[in-house]
Amino acid sequence: MTIWHPTLSGNGPIYRQLAEAIANAIETGELQPGQRLPTHRALADQLSVTVGTVTRAYNEAEHQGWLTARIGAGTYVKEHGLEPGIDWQIRQPNPDRIELWQNLPILQDKHDAFRTAIDALLATPGRINTLMEYSSVNGEQSQREIVCQWLTRYGFDIQQDQLFFSFGSQNGLLLSLMACGAVGETILCEGLTYPGLMTLCHSLRIQLKGLAIDEEGLLPEALEKACQSGNYRTLYPTIHNPTTAIMSLARRQQILAICEKYKIIIIEDDVHGTLPEHRPPALVTLSPQLVIHLGSFAKNSSAGLRVGYMIVPKQLQQAMSIAVRGSSWMITPVMIELTCQWLSTGQADKMLLNQRKILKERGELLRHHFREFNIRYSDGGMHAWLVLPEQWRAQSFVQQADAAGIGLAGGDLFAAGHYPSPHAVRLSISHPVCNTSLDEALVKLKQILKSDPSPHLFI
Ligand SMILES: Cc1ncc(COP(=O)(O)O)c(C=O)c1O
Repeated sequence: MTIWHPTLSGNGPIYRQLAEAIANAIETGELQPGQRLPTHRALADQLSVTVGTVTRAYNEAEHQGWLTARIGAGTYVKEHGLEPGIDWQIRQPNPDRIELWQNLPILQDKHDAFRTAIDALLATPGRINTLMEYSSVNGEQSQREIVCQWLTRYGFDIQQDQLFFSFGSQNGLLLSLMACGAVGETILCEGLTYPGLMTLCHSLRIQLKGLAIDEEGLLPEALEKACQSGNYRTLYPTIHNPTTAIMSLARRQQILAICEKYKIIIIEDDVHGTLPEHRPPALVTLSPQLVIHLGSFAKNSSAGLRVGYMIVPKQLQQAMSIAVRGSSWMITPVMIELTCQWLSTGQADKMLLNQRKILKERGELLRHHFREFNIRYSDGGMHAWLVLPEQWRAQSFVQQADAAGIGLAGGDLFAAGHYPSPHAVRLSISHPVCNTSLDEALVKLKQILKSDPSPHLFI
């Protein structure tokens, strides 16, 4: 067997150069999935470096997701992996625990609102019979008009024929990937991204290439570099789950210019988009021909109605119709109608404002408790991103919090493809039933943050 000869860049510490060379060799196919790497000793002799340098480089490449070490058997290039398919469980309320791990809409009593909408629906003779039939692929024109009018108030200027419904954004994402012909391909996304994308891509045999991000989200240089090196057709950005980053207008324009140059379609996941009071324009409003925009009433009104919407560019509308027809014929007309009742009577705005008000109070609690830590929170956000102090790793912090009765989402859940796992956790402030529970959890987390990890957590 011939030994692999890495090409080092000559810039920076040797171990980093070697880790980069490993990543490049895997990306270009020089090193194949499942291939065994030279032993630490053999590579150290070949490069005239210490064994410790090779060990450090292999550890770094393993941390970045390129390699896997099997005890006693050597180091191997990771098999082309699909993203993990997570079987998400909605945890039932447990008085002994405070959950901060999932973005659930803040509970609001919907009984009266639901009854009013049903009464209005039943008050129109024959209406319910129509809604119980098969419908057009994108709902009724009157329903699309109501949603478009409502969206105008949130900065969107769209024609009703661009609008399709979905069973929430998760289903919108599935339909969009189908319409873009992405099944079985590799798509681009932010290096830290929404885990629901990973679960979906696992089932669709889609691989993810996670791109570098900063405080503003996706880095244009990383996108440009990926587009130069591979034949990608689809990009999926969020607003941003998990890091809370929101791209500025200038950043959005840069990203759109690159996508236009390389003919990339963007699936813009804006499910959290109506929650902040102020935000830069959605990508779809800047370049409607490049973007499928996903929105939903799950976060601002009701998750259980399962009504979301998609703004679809002209050239993909037929493919979207086929995706909807092929998967479910239509989106449940009664649920769309109830949503439209809430939109046209002002009920949806009331729920949104209430959600914003509570999130504002909770954001203040966060800022108050975590002043001295590296916490990122954007107004209107359902979650915060806590970058851990030096002594903590995400998994050990999640374990310690769990032992204290607090559920958190570790940063590793969000790392797509080969993107390094961050030493950070996501805290969903919308999840607790009341501000008092959140306050209690934040006090406990602060104590843990200030302590050292228990030694038994490291295994
Ligand atoms: C970024 C993102 N996309 C999509 C979804 C799913 O939204 P929906 O409930 O509308 O399917 C979520 C839910 O948390 C999310 O955070």
